[in-house]
Amino acid sequence: MTRSASHSILPPLTPEEQQQSLAVSELIRGQIEAAGGVVSFESFMEAALYAPGLGYYSAGAAKIGAGGDFVTAPEVSDLFGRCVARQCAEVLSPAGGEILEIGAGTGRLAATVLEALAENGVLPERYAILEVSADLASRQRAHLQKLPPALRDRVVWLKRLPETPLRGVIVANEVLDALPFTRIALRGGVLHEIGVAFDGGAFVEREQDPASPLAQAWSSLSAELPMRLPDGYCSEVCLRIEPWIAGVGACLESGLFLLFDYGLPRAHYYHSQRIDGTLRCHFKQRAHGDPFVNVGVQDITAWVDFTRVAEAAVAADLEVLGFVTQAAFLLATGIQDMAAQSGTLLERVQRAGEARKLLLPGEMGEAFKVMALGKNHESPLTGFSLQDLRRSL
Ligand SMILES: C[S@@+](CC[C@H](N)C(=O)[O-])C[C@H]1O[C@@H](n2cnc3c(N)ncnc32)[C@H](O)[C@@H]1O
Repeated sequence: MTRSASHSILPPLTPEEQQQSLAVSELIRGQIEAAGGVVSFESFMEAALYAPGLGYYSAGAAKIGAGGDFVTAPEVSDLFGRCVARQCAEVLSPAGGEILEIGAGTGRLAATVLEALAENGVLPERYAILEVSADLASRQRAHLQKLPPALRDRVVWLKRLPETPLRGVIVANEVLDALPFTRIALRGGVLHEIGVAFDGGAFVEREQDPASPLAQAWSSLSAELPMRLPDGYCSEVCLRIEPWIAGVGACLESGLFLLFDYGLPRAHYYHSQRIDGTLRCHFKQRAHGDPFVNVGVQDITAWVDFTRVAEAAVAADLEVLGFVTQAAFLLATGIQDMAAQSGTLLERVQRAGEARKLLLPGEMGEAFKVMALGKNHESPLTGFSLQDLRRSL
């Protein structure tokens, strides 16, 4: 979507939002000046989303859920968390262990998983949350405070990844898509990096020679692509995936690392049909393609190259145990039975509607994928029993 088109669909900013956006923009302008006129898109996104106290995720507005900017699967329905809990229970029930959730949003997934595990008598020894956003961590605390003491007392917030590797399950829903990424453009067969400058009173794209980690990453990933990409092709490369997976993987002694996100295997991700890439911004339930408006008060994301995730996992001594669509994962873990379970007719109708949103190909069922990474984990995984997309990676 072009810049002017995105403006026309976006609601105006409140005075508080204007103030925050101005403060974040000033910060980024300073960074651009200090860097000699251009910063990488990755740096721009890092500041726009995560600048302490100012960035989109750091500051105080409601972001996730119907009253925020976008809705995630745990917010669509507790059915999602109940299915995740069923997969966790399979790993925890033989020998116990703990759960670590990374980027826990409003805390709704944590609450649902704990309630469902309690019903099945397989509670984790603790439910740890690692959250970079102080605002979201306080929303999580408020939400989880409503749980009975036997559940809420198991929840702890970590400031960094645990030093002692854990046995159990690590879960991250829609965290990979929020890691800052670089942007690229192909011109006459040559790779350019799309950086960010400030010109004429606005942030603008500025193409330059790619920094060497990006050039190296592109040279190895593009060599494997089955098709030539057209001139003018733009896309994203997330160089943060490797260190992030390596860091999280090092925290797992044995068990499962479950990743949920929208994304594709590489051959579909870098495809001539996606000539403008996959970058999306979210503001008050509107999705658009301009990261330079509403800076600091809107979300910025891109789809995930799951081949990159799998490569990073293997390099970090993790095994790719499964890769399926969200629909296949939820069906295998029993969403249909759960949706049809007891309750009034109205409740069952409502749950059926929520299940459709999570499952249908035109909704969240196909675009969202689930990857299971494992370490020292032998037993089969129910969530990955209906489909196996690993060969597409
Ligand atoms: C798109 S939101 C998803 C939130 C939640 N998982 C859900 O599904 O509703 C991304 C979340 O990841 C967190 N996050 C982003 N980068 C992170 C990192 N490196 N470590 C921990 N949390 C992170 C954000 O603060 C936010 O809670």
